[in-house]
Amino acid sequence: MEKLVYPGSFDPITLGHVDIIRRAAGLCDELIVAVLVNPGKQPSFTIGERVDMIRRCISGIDNASVRSFDGLLAQYLQNIGARAIIKGLRAVSDYEYELQMAHMNKKLNIEMETLFMMASLQYSFLSSSTVKDVARYGGDISEFIPEEIIEDVYAKFGRGKDGIS
Ligand code: PNS
Repeated sequence: MEKLVYPGSFDPITLGHVDIIRRAAGLCDELIVAVLVNPGKQPSFTIGERVDMIRRCISGIDNASVRSFDGLLAQYLQNIGARAIIKGLRAVSDYEYELQMAHMNKKLNIEMETLFMMASLQYSFLSSSTVKDVARYGGDISEFIPEEIIEDVYAKFGRGKDGIS
């Protein structure tokens, strides 16, 4: 496959996201991580901060890059000449939401395909929002967040680099 897009809010990127990026990058020539606005969520990090953090975490994956886009994902795919997106699935609870989005995206762009990759077992409980909760109260996030951005995540919640304020 030529171009594959991995869209999401990445607020912030977790080790679960990095795992999907690594595995998906192995299936295509070019993997584009697309940071998009999720109208249903109030983000903690700006788009610029999220793009910068992702860039640092994926610098070792040669065929992966990061971009941001403000608008419809279906339109974005057309703009960049891509046909497929990949999404990670953790548990059954992700399925209903992802199914709705996949069908809506197909309605908007008939050419667009949504592929799903199961999250690796050790990350199947992980979400950006639970990690932010742990960081907010100074808990250890080192098992969940790439080491390149641990300081940034603690700093967002007014904590020092090891979570202690
Ligand atoms: O990581 P998330 O929050 O599950 O990602 C959801 C995201 C950002 C991919 C989704 O909200 C999205 O595609 N937003 C762009 C706007 C859009 O196209 N909405 C219609 C999709 S049905």
